[in-house]
Order: sequence, then structure tokens, then C-alpha cells
Amino acid sequence: MASLQATFYGHTYENPFMNASGVHCMDTAELDGLATSAAGSFVTKSATAEGRDGNPEPRYVNLELGSINSMGLPNLGLAYYLEDAIQRQTAHPDQPFFLSVASYKGFDEYVANMKAIQDSAYTGLVELNLSCPNVPGKPQMAYDFEDTEKLLTEIFRFYTKPFGVKLPPYFDFMHFDKIAAVLNQFDLKFVNCINSVGNGLYIDDETDTVVIKPKGGFGGIGGEYVKPTALANVRALRQRLNPTIDIIGTGGILTGRDAYEHLLCGASMLQVGTQLYKEGLGVFDRLNSELLDILVAKGYNTIAEFKGKLATLD
Ligand code: FUM
Repeated sequence: MASLQATFYGHTYENPFMNASGVHCMDTAELDGLATSAAGSFVTKSATAEGRDGNPEPRYVNLELGSINSMGLPNLGLAYYLEDAIQRQTAHPDQPFFLSVASYKGFDEYVANMKAIQDSAYTGLVELNLSCPNVPGKPQMAYDFEDTEKLLTEIFRFYTKPFGVKLPPYFDFMHFDKIAAVLNQFDLKFVNCINSVGNGLYIDDETDTVVIKPKGGFGGIGGEYVKPTALANVRALRQRLNPTIDIIGTGGILTGRDAYEHLLCGASMLQVGTQLYKEGLGVFDRLNSELLDILVAKGYNTIAEFKGKLATLD
């Protein structure tokens, strides 16, 4: 009997699917929706120290092949998500989820946010978002290898709970090597590849204008456009990271086949962003059933039988 069960950091989830942070996870009501959906787990909206309204609208647009967004980290503030997380963890200790934390101001806020989580009663997984491309005037932390190393060094001085990092896409083997060399120095539990492909530009062919307001129309690209880049990042980092660091695959998962390809590249869990936004929570029922059909058709009983086993032509 084929099963989609996914083992990740010591817990067995019913399936590997989750939302990607930013989609359907702004408040307790949306998180409740995810918790009772067919998703195997879920992640909260990336929190900054203080709540934020985010960038001016329009700031998210669905496109035929994906989406463009420059949300600007709208969120209800770390205290809100921490309180919700502690309540959820107490009520359902058997249903682990991910608390996402980011920074609007940079290095010091990242450290302060992790200190706040360390000092709290929350003991679950944290996804440290080092890759938001939408803060005007602020680069993505994980494109600066030295600062990323300094930040993780500082966090590991005091942080004792399990966490991983959400990465932007990399586009060169030298960069895969460099980020892996940084990450392999730390007891990270996972990396998430990839956040949106930052600072794309989409032009409306009727109005000849950009389609989102912030940053002159530049925004993160998600959906079908980004699957090959996402797969490359999952694969390249799986080949380079310590085996103790799991990978979450994110980017371009529209179908069970897309999910299967992320797993072949070595992902253990799978996040769905644009397609969840377009289709709603029902996407998880469909993805589960499509992925299960693929396992059955190929004669696999478990994901472990093919995870990371992508074949090459040499
Ligand atoms: O703009 C945003 O809120 C997006 C965040 C992210 O991509 O991490």
C-alpha cells in the first residue's frame, strides 16, 4: 500500500506538503485553515519584531505562469505568532509546524527575534527567512555569504532550539559551493530552497505598465516560471550539504509531477505558494492524490524509495 508519509526532523508527517510562508498564514484563522486541511504541516507568515502593514498595493499579481509580489513583509508582529505557536504546540503537541521569522531592519533584528524565540516557551521548528527580496533598500541576507556566516555564528551562541534557513535561489556553481560551505559549519536542521526569484519585472501588454506598485514594479517571481531554478537549488544543495541537514523544496509545485521532481532532487518536505494562492486549500487534496497516483504507477510504496535518486546521463 503506497504512502506519502514524510519523515522530517524526527516526526512523521502524513504527507510532505505545506504552504509557503506568505500564503494563507497571516493570522490564527488562516493557520487553523491550514492545520485542518490535507497539508502535512504548515508555516506561519514571516514575522518581524513589530507588526507591519507592508508595501503599498497592488503588491501581488497572479500571472499566467506564476506570480509577482512585493508584499514587504506585512505581518502581525513576532509576539502574535509566538503566542499562537505556543498555544498550538500545547494543544496539539503531536502536530509540529514551522514558525517563520524574518527581519525588516537587518542583522540586529534577526538576532533579537531569535533571542525572543529562545526566551519563549515555543520549542518547535523555526524557519529563519534570510531571503525576502522585497524590503526597499535592503539586500537579501543570504546573498551576502560573510554576513550570513556572522549571523549564524551569533545566533548559535545562544539559540538551542531546532531551526533552519530559507534561502534565495543561487545561479552559479560557485555560489552553491559557497553557501553550502557556510551552512555546513552549523547544526542547522534544514534549508528551504527557494524563496521567490527576486526582482523580476512583469509588463502588462495592454497598458505597457508594470503590474505592482512597490519598487517601480520589481518583485519576487513564483510559480511555473521558477521550477527549473528551484529544482536546481534543491539538487545542488542536497549534493553539497551535510546529510543531517534536510531540504524543503519550494518553487513551481503545481502538480503531483512537480512534487515528485522536487523529491527526486532530494527534498523531504514541499512548500506550495503561488498555486495555493490561486487554488485555495483544496490544492493539497489534489496534490496528495496526484503524487500518490505517481507512486502507484511507478511501483513505489514510500517516498524514501526514490527521494534524492535523480538519474543523470553519464
Ligand atoms: O514581501 C514579502 O513579504 C515576502 C517575503 C519573502 O519572500 O520572504
